[in-house]
Amino acid sequence: MSTRTKIKALLESDETNVDVTVKGWVRTFRNNQFIALNDGSTNNNVQIVVDFENTDAALLKRITTGAALSVTGTVVPSLGKGQKIDIKAKEIEILGDSDPEKYPLQPKKHSLEFLREIAHLRFRTTTFGAIFRVRNTLSFAIHQFFQERGFVYLHTPVITASDAEGAGETFHVTNFDLENIPKTENGEIDYKQDFFGRATNLTVSGQLEGELGAMALSDIYTFGPTFRAENSNTTRHLAEFWMIEPEMAFADITDNMDTAEALLKYVIKYALDKNKDDLEFLSTRLLDEEKQKPQNERSEMTLLEKLQFCLDNDFERLTYTEAIDILKDSTPNKKKKFQFLVEGWGTDLQSEHERYLVEKHFKKPVILTDYPKEIKSFYMRQNDDGKTVAAMDILFPGIGEIVGGSQREERLEKLEQRMDEIGIPKDELWWYLDTRRFGGCPHAGFGLGFERLVLFVTGMGNIRDVIPFPRFPKNAEF
Ligand code: 4AD
Ligand code: MG
Repeated sequence: MSTRTKIKALLESDETNVDVTVKGWVRTFRNNQFIALNDGSTNNNVQIVVDFENTDAALLKRITTGAALSVTGTVVPSLGKGQKIDIKAKEIEILGDSDPEKYPLQPKKHSLEFLREIAHLRFRTTTFGAIFRVRNTLSFAIHQFFQERGFVYLHTPVITASDAEGAGETFHVTNFDLENIPKTENGEIDYKQDFFGRATNLTVSGQLEGELGAMALSDIYTFGPTFRAENSNTTRHLAEFWMIEPEMAFADITDNMDTAEALLKYVIKYALDKNKDDLEFLSTRLLDEEKQKPQNERSEMTLLEKLQFCLDNDFERLTYTEAIDILKDSTPNKKKKFQFLVEGWGTDLQSEHERYLVEKHFKKPVILTDYPKEIKSFYMRQNDDGKTVAAMDILFPGIGEIVGGSQREERLEKLEQRMDEIGIPKDELWWYLDTRRFGGCPHAGFGLGFERLVLFVTGMGNIRDVIPFPRFPKNAEF
């Protein structure tokens, strides 16, 4: 293969009068003369100037939107506006044709809904190129944040026998012949005959295994796919999503909040520095979208301002109880109070309440702590009031819950008692309870939903647009 220059590197260099080879896909071909070529390294296309009078007509015909080309030519100062250089083509090779009659991505504005149906090709649009480069940067930044702080990246299993959240939203894993499932004498499914000799499922969270790691390595984090068979027909839920789950020994809920806030700020700043062009593009894209909305529903800040604001301000920290008091006194719509408060303290916050707190009341990210134990998972540390647990959720503008975590219940009797109350089988989690038996210690951790983070940073509106291949009900085509 010849040496190839990536378009990003080429556009960043000021050097002209040199010969280069670039390879990429045609975005547009105007007047038989100007090719806009993109190779995914940047949002910007390089303009190739074709000497059409001296180029074979058959070749010109094959330069169509979507075709893959290799172009060798001389870098020259651009005659056009908005770009510094062009490439004056000397040699054009068609690496892959793209039939203009059939190629679905013609150069015009396509709706996100349409692009979701051609998720195998949408990477080639400016919007999705930007999103997936930002996603890449964020995942790298997450590793860098933890590695700089001495956390160990721990790979927890995708196939497990437990339901970490106890919410019964697991996908089963089996190698049974579904037409012929073995049954016991009682007519129940005989999992002993299944591949693992027991019922298994895809993990909903790596937390429980992560806690085991932290009880030896001190600070660990997981970063992997998790699966939930919950109602994912929303713009904030996926059936398969990636989660970052740090777990820290000798840490309490305040350490947990500090780490989560520092992590979010670190990775947002990292993306702002590294993906300036992409984020500027996405910011403009969002502005255009906002213009379609009525004035009073438009965001007061641009995407870039929103991200910067997030870096410059401390997240608001308050308890669930304090939040309820604020909501009780507020009138979100023309004197009407929040309906749910009829049920009062103890009910889970709905997204409209979270949005109100974050977007209307505090106007910044909020960390809510000390939720009623009834609405939180069994492993959270019980507070002395007997009613609440040391939980923390981080709520983000436009997103709602982005992080969920807690200090863990390290006291064996308290944990067992709670598991009995809720009906979590202790014998199945004997290994988890062992860490409380042998050198248990205060520890805390959280889960950051990676796609919700990407959603926030890119300013997109639907979580299905920030993961390359979204999984949601009735959708697993590619
Ligand atoms: O609040 P969740 O359910 O917490 C846990 O799973 C804990 N075990 C985490 C921990 O303490 N180690 O999920 C954590 C985060 C949520 O705040 C949200 O950002 C994201 O995961 N999340 C989802 N993202 C996309 N689609 C879904 N269906 C999600 N469910 C949760
Ligand atoms: Mg949660």
